[in-house]
Amino acid sequence: MSPAPASQTPLQIVLGLETSCDETAAAVVRLGPNGAIEVLSSVVASQIAAHAPYGGVVPEIAARAHVEIIDQIAAAALSQAGVGYDGLTGVAATAGPGLVGGVMVGLSFGKAVALARDLPLIAVNHLEGHAVSARLAADVAYPFLLLLVSGGHCQLLSVEGVGACRRLGSTIDDAAGEAFDKIAKTLGLPYPGGPALEKLAQGGDAERFALPRMLLGRKDCDFSFSGLKTAAARLAEGLTAANDRRDLAASVQAAIARQLAERSERAMAAYAQAQDGRGLRFVVAGGVAANKGVRAILEAAAARRGFSFTAPPLAYCTDNAAMIALAGAERLALGQSHPLDAAARPRWPLDEAAALAHPTHQPGRKGAKA
Ligand code: KG4
Ligand code: ZN
Repeated sequence: MSPAPASQTPLQIVLGLETSCDETAAAVVRLGPNGAIEVLSSVVASQIAAHAPYGGVVPEIAARAHVEIIDQIAAAALSQAGVGYDGLTGVAATAGPGLVGGVMVGLSFGKAVALARDLPLIAVNHLEGHAVSARLAADVAYPFLLLLVSGGHCQLLSVEGVGACRRLGSTIDDAAGEAFDKIAKTLGLPYPGGPALEKLAQGGDAERFALPRMLLGRKDCDFSFSGLKTAAARLAEGLTAANDRRDLAASVQAAIARQLAERSERAMAAYAQAQDGRGLRFVVAGGVAANKGVRAILEAAAARRGFSFTAPPLAYCTDNAAMIALAGAERLALGQSHPLDAAARPRWPLDEAAALAHPTHQPGRKGAKA
């Protein structure tokens, strides 16, 4: 048999586990020797109903709910993929950042599978999962510029290869998803607020309410949403007519989208210069990337700057385990794995060096935030 070309890596079939917030998810992803990616299954059990009465995620309820169904969700993912434990080449579990009680559930389950089946374990950074999520359904080669916008994070990153991210900008207060959620709450919308606000905004007049444009003059690629949040909350007070509420929702959505696009365009300019104008790819990922208004304005910004634009299908924007399985498979293909005492980390920045050198928040007791 002739030797495999140098670019070939061993076939990976990886079980991914995701329990860092309010979704219990398991998936099986195949990464072929030629780099072809195939999602064999992706199962997501949402805890929305359990948290809705409290208007947000309750960590203790989340952890308990993960414990109750993680084994069934993993079994469903394997069965839908038509793969048994002995067909796997590895198991990848989110090890942070996130609600640590929940992270421990998925990570412990992953460790048990790894130990019992003698499989390598990959302790995956949840943000690295979001970073590779666009690769699940489209041919997005490294390197690329990434806008990661979720409930807990809002960052611009230069993704240079597997596990190699350089932070270009980050929020100095709330994440974009958090802003959507908090403003939605002041409008009396149910949790999770982002999708509810998008629905309310349909057909609204986005120019009706003037909202502050944060950080406009700043030369960096950071974000800020706190002023917008305060202004929107004040406007929302006493607003009862359906058309007024619709117009405010549309104005808020447009203001968030506009800031995401403005800061992304700054990052695109810097990135294009560093790349010498070659391989200009822009990717948006995370829960907020599910928002159609946000996607449209970002796509237009990318086109203006000569970047290709990719956003994952909606199911891979919000939390899922296929992205965790892929992040694990890519590391495994490079021969990387982690010991069975890998720790669950509530905080775990993707670009740890940048987070420590230039913290956008004061580093907490447990290390730098993202
Ligand atoms: O990525 P994700 O599922 O979880 C985190 O890692 O945070 O993101 C959840 C966030 C929530 O803040 C949710 O309100 C927001 O993404 N989100 C949206 C939409 N769908 C989810 N925000 C705006 N429009 C949407 N359609
Ligand atoms: Zn997430």
